[in-house]
Amino acid sequence: MLQIENLTRRFGAATAVDRVSIHVARPTMIGIIGASGAGKSTLLRMLNRLETPTSGRITFDGRDVTALKGRQVRGWHADCAMIFQQFNLVPRLDVVSNVLHGTLYRTGTLRALTAMWPEADIRHAIEILARLGIHEHAAKRAEALSGGQQQRVAIARALMQDPKILLADEPIASLDPMNAQAVMEALRSIHDEDGRTVICNLHTLDTARRYCDRVIGMKQGRVVFDGTPEQLTTGVARDIYGAGADFSEEATSTEIRETPAAVTAIREAKAAV
Ligand SMILES: Nc1ncnc2c1ncn2[C@@H]1O[C@H](COP(=O)(O)OP(=O)(O)OP(=O)(O)O)[C@@H](O)[C@H]1O
Ligand SMILES: [Mg+2]
Repeated sequence: MLQIENLTRRFGAATAVDRVSIHVARPTMIGIIGASGAGKSTLLRMLNRLETPTSGRITFDGRDVTALKGRQVRGWHADCAMIFQQFNLVPRLDVVSNVLHGTLYRTGTLRALTAMWPEADIRHAIEILARLGIHEHAAKRAEALSGGQQQRVAIARALMQDPKILLADEPIASLDPMNAQAVMEALRSIHDEDGRTVICNLHTLDTARRYCDRVIGMKQGRVVFDGTPEQLTTGVARDIYGAGADFSEEATSTEIRETPAAVTAIREAKAAV
């Protein structure tokens, strides 16, 4: 399915990503962890071609992603959508229009200027919002929502493209624990229910262990661990983060709580759709 071979990105004399090879044979939920500057964002940005690799190759279902140019790169953005820590919504625009922007790769920007969305797309956007438990906010301005709700709007916008891969760069880094859990549950359901591959950069170990099937540890641009959450022992984590004997897992904890109201709301919304 997805093959990353010897992928490298240099910035001047510095090597941000150093000969990384990752094979994803079937849809998987993958967490990438590592200290600040380890190369996690650069790797994700190369995957959806926001960044051009210095060398190495990415192929997806036999297609050479590294060789794509111009319009083909935009086509790849539909198959490989990305969400960010800061949501990147249009704050003053209503939620459903933000989600409909996910269709622009096929309809063109004129659609956004005239706000003439096909009715089927509007219905689909609201279905996706309902699935994520936020459809009652569809008509509000994006800026009126909480961070966790805004991140779910960003996920909904990505889902409008019907991507095969969803990349998430620190999706919960600016959220409180309750909203963080709602967003991680949403990402997990997108993997479980739709069979999409989800790859998230996470800065906390417990989140990676709890939600991902496979965890990849990066250090100084290289993959130093690739295994299951069970294999990610404290000793391995200490090595990934390059920490000494005083390494504390709590320093990388989000303290996500067990059953917050936001998650219950998502479950109820799903049952109602
Ligand atoms: N556009 C750029 N120009 C120059 N250097 C860059 C650029 N982007 C990233 N780097 C460098 O590449 C290295 C890897 O950065 P990257 O942002 O991928 O790390 P990261 O693991 O995502 O870190 P964080 O956890 O802080 O987000 C860093 O040393 C960074 O300074
Ligand atoms: Mg980063």
